Parts: sequence; C-alpha cells; structure tokens
Amino acid sequence: MDTVVKKINRKQMNTEDFAEASRILHRGGLVAFPTETVYGLGGNALDPEAAARIYAAKGRPSDNPLIVHIADVRALDVLAVNIPQTAWRLAERFWPGPLTMILQKSPAVPLSTTGGLETVAIRMPSDEIAEELIRSSGLYIAAPSANASGRPSTTRAEHVYEDLAGRIEMILDGGPVQIGLESTIIDLTTEHPLILRPGYISLEDIRELIPEADYDPAVLKHKPQENIVAKAPGMKYRHYAPKGCLTIYEGDAMAVVETINRDLEQREGQGHKCAVLATDETKQYYRADIVKSIGSRKDEEGIAARLFDILREFDEERVEYIYSESFEGGQLGQAIMNRLLKAAGYHVVEV
Ligand code: TXA
Ligand code: MG
Repeated sequence: MDTVVKKINRKQMNTEDFAEASRILHRGGLVAFPTETVYGLGGNALDPEAAARIYAAKGRPSDNPLIVHIADVRALDVLAVNIPQTAWRLAERFWPGPLTMILQKSPAVPLSTTGGLETVAIRMPSDEIAEELIRSSGLYIAAPSANASGRPSTTRAEHVYEDLAGRIEMILDGGPVQIGLESTIIDLTTEHPLILRPGYISLEDIRELIPEADYDPAVLKHKPQENIVAKAPGMKYRHYAPKGCLTIYEGDAMAVVETINRDLEQREGQGHKCAVLATDETKQYYRADIVKSIGSRKDEEGIAARLFDILREFDEERVEYIYSESFEGGQLGQAIMNRLLKAAGYHVVEV
C-alpha cells in the first residue's frame, strides 16, 4: 500500500484533502493526523474492523484500548452511559484540549475499540486539523499515538512516515505538534477520579475542579510494585523506548555530570557508542562524543516538546548507551519523568 502524505496549510485548509481523508475513514481505512499532543493514527471508532487494522498497523497488542476523538461534547451521550457531573465540568474547562476521560461505554462502542473493556476513553483535541477531520468526516475517530508499538510517540509527520509507511492510507502533515507529550488520562469510573497517565494538564489543574482527584498508585515516580496493576492497559507495556540502553541519573547537577562522565568513559573505552541527554546549563561539561541538549531547564514546555524527538535522534545515530539527566519538579515534571522512566525501563542511578 502507498501511504499518501498531504501537507496541510493551517492558514488555508483545503476541503478536498479532508474529503479524501474522510472517504478513506468511511471505507475502514487509516489516516494519521496531528493533534496538539502527538500525532494520532485514526480509524472509524465504531467500525470493529478499523480498530483491528489500527492494532495491526502499529504492531500493538489488541487488549490495549484506543482513545475515541470527538469534536462536539454532545458525543459523550452517544459514546458513554452513567456520565458523572464531573465529566461535564472537566469538559467545559479543559476541552478542546489534552485531557482524556475514561467513562462507562455505551453499546454503540465496539469492544474491539476498547480492548475488551466496558469503559471507553474519550478526548476532544484542540488541533484545528484534528477537529476538521472529525467534523468533516462526521465520525468518531479512534486513534492511538501514530508510532510503531514500543517506539517513542510521533511529534512530526516524518516520524509517522518512518514508522507506518506502507501500512496506512494517508498522513495529514500539519508540521510539528505543540505539546509533544500525550494527553492526561483521568478515570471517572471510580469513586474518586484517578489520573492514569500524567500530561500537560496537571493534577493541580484538575484539583481546582475536583479536590479529591489523585494519581492512580501505578503512576509512581519509580518502578511500580509487581502487585500494583496499571489500570491503563497501555501503561504496562515497555514504551517510548529508544533502541539504545537509557539510564537516568538523579541528584545534584554537577555530581550527575561527574558520574555520567565517569560511566560513559568506561563504556566508550569498551568501544561502545555513547551519548548524553543534557541541558543548555550543563552540556559544556560532558566529555561524550555525542552530547544533545534538550533545552534550558527554564523552559519546561520546550523540554516536553523535544523529548520524543531527541530519543529518536539517538536511534538515528545508532547510539548504544544513552546517559540522561533527570527532570523533576515544575508543572510538567511528572509527565516528562513518567515518559523518560518508561523509556529507561526504570533504570535510575541515584547520585
Ligand atoms: O494525546 C493522546 O492521548 C494521543 C493523541 C493521538 O490523542 N493518543 C494516545 O493514545 O496517546 P495511546 O493509544 O497511545 O494511549 C492511550 C492510553 C493507553 O495507555 C491505553 O491503555 C489507555 O490510554 N486507555 C484507553 N482506553 C482506556 C480505558 N477504557 N481504560 C483505561 N485506559 C485506557
Ligand atoms: Mg501510545
């Protein structure tokens, strides 16, 4: 199959491009599109066969449920039942935007879309291309992140092409995404709402509306205990992983620099290709052949936006060992560290 890439001019969107994408979706085909968080791999959410094709294209286990993307809040009443008041309040405050809500599914939603669960994940993206695709097709669009399973999520169309060319009909290229980390997921089917995946919308933001909201115990800083089961099935898989072996170093900035230099010199001495994931503040102190700055620590949004790109760059350069600084604190610290820890398989050195 040839994968058609359509460059979309955001200032002047061409209705014919969306008509073509829409025809593909109505036939059960797949279209990747930008959202404000990451690129999504879209199919008709109410077509069980489209869901099966999404799993196949990603190489993803089919017990991992998909997020259903909508453009109108009234879709909640079609897709979900027993909707709590909190859902409408969260929708009013944060939609369109990077928040996904877990609700009890209605019979309209096939089990193949929800990975066999009786709950459904729903989100209204704010990206105008995503919105136009949903509106013009008149469909609800099931879309996981548009990456091959296990690889870092995609933040630009070139990365989607790299992972999925030949497996999907079309990619709408809207340039680099805005946020670069996937949406915050909140489960509203439990007594107290729980965050299953941290994202751009923080627990503090949500607590302004729902003071009793909390993190699910599986969203811990470090490796979850064996006996805590991740409620978002996707969180149990190895994720976001670069091909090289990634280790995170935590502690005082200059002590981290020294320890990383020591460890990487040993590896380089054994003939391995090593790289450091550094910041503007520290990059000049590292002695590795490859040192990449993810940006300034003062610009947390910039760090979030560059994380998946930088992990892919290490792959392109065939790096075998990656040494990374840690990024706690701040509004986005939880979300950034959640992805970085998974990418590292929770391999952390405390300095
Ligand atoms: O920002 C995003 O959310 C992006 C864009 C494309 O919208 N999508 C995304 O989808 O990240 P995906 O499939 O890569 O991640 C969805 C996560 C998975 O961890 C999945 O297990 C969880 O949401 N999930 C989906 N439905 C669920 C449900 N009913 N209950 C619990 N977790 C669910
Ligand atoms: Mg994903």
